[in-house]
Amino acid sequence: MANGLDDVVAADTVLSDVDGVGGHLTIRGHSLAELAGRWRYTQVVRLLFDGFFDDLPRDAELEKAIGKARLEVFDRVKPLLAQLAPLDIYSGMRAGMAVLPDGDGLADALRLIAAPAVLTPALLRLGRGETPIAPDAKADHAGDMLRMLAGAASPALAKALDSYLVTVCDHGLNASTFATRVVASTQAGLTSAILAGLGALKGPLHGGAPGPVIEMLDAIEASGDATAWLSNEIAHGERIMGFGHRIYRVRDPRADALKAVVRQLGSRNETGSRLAFAETVEQAALDVLRIAKPQRSIQTNVEFYTALLLEAVGFPKEAFSNVFAAGRVAGWVAHAREQQATGRLIRPQSRYVGPVPDLVA
Ligand code: ACO
Repeated sequence: MANGLDDVVAADTVLSDVDGVGGHLTIRGHSLAELAGRWRYTQVVRLLFDGFFDDLPRDAELEKAIGKARLEVFDRVKPLLAQLAPLDIYSGMRAGMAVLPDGDGLADALRLIAAPAVLTPALLRLGRGETPIAPDAKADHAGDMLRMLAGAASPALAKALDSYLVTVCDHGLNASTFATRVVASTQAGLTSAILAGLGALKGPLHGGAPGPVIEMLDAIEASGDATAWLSNEIAHGERIMGFGHRIYRVRDPRADALKAVVRQLGSRNETGSRLAFAETVEQAALDVLRIAKPQRSIQTNVEFYTALLLEAVGFPKEAFSNVFAAGRVAGWVAHAREQQATGRLIRPQSRYVGPVPDLVA
């Protein structure tokens, strides 16, 4: 049975490599450990885009160009925000991005990079009955996203969010990146391709997991017994959110990168006690999964500590997938361009297993 395209190689890429046995992630020649917490998101955008846009400016100019793109997106979506606000926050963001021009140039790419960072805070504020805050083109991308959310951004929280965006910027041919490449292969514009990625990311088996991680932590805290709660979920055929991965058979390296960022935010404050609690839940989940699924190595994935990090920087759980998209959009655009450059339409075959029509004489 053709089941989930496991082990099928569907693209050559220079953008990223996921080593699921060794537990390593390479982003365009750099290990995740080199990038996370050291490179800024803008620098990683540049790394991913290099060679795909002839007019790519240097880092400082790129930062300014992304700032300008945030303003352009805000001006373009502002008249629509009231209509988008009643939708769930992810659908509102997706609908807002759908009105962006569907071109292939650097300006189109930068608007797409800017859009989740602009739409998410604006829609959250409207949902709380507050007025959206316009972007500051001169601010750094992550800091401005937090400022648009809360009116101000502490440098520590902005750095934590920036590290998150870098950590999730690209990850091989995951479901949303594949969806993006399929649409890009038709030579549709970048907005069309990114909308495909956005659709795929939404599901709980992919980018929709971190919100449910928070619900799980809260439910376990209320129950008072992590092992019993988790065992009961497994007994009812439920999946433990934030664990398991199609490619990794060892711990997802992004989990530790993000956990280190959460730890830096403090050990004695609320974040510190949340982290300590999450670590006990993580260990209980790993023990329960090892016993329940001995045939499969199910380890912590990126979403577990994503949930803690995004909660600590101030996003509500319903917006976590939006923030994931704000990071991953850089990888999507780069993959779309890489796919377009091949000039090859992605068009696999299906095997027909339905009824056979009667032969007409
Ligand atoms: N909890 C409980 N059981 C699990 C889990 C889990 N988190 N993950 C896998 N399993 C079990 C399955 O139930 C199945 O058991 P069975 O053989 O007894 O039926 C076995 O492991 C294999 O499952 P598959 O679905 O074939 O494994 P796959 O490689 O496709 O799973 C996936 C990957 C979808 C991510 C899965 O681990 C999962 O659902 N995890 C929970 C959701 C989650 O955290 N998603 C975020 C992933 S990271 C990302 O996309 C950014």
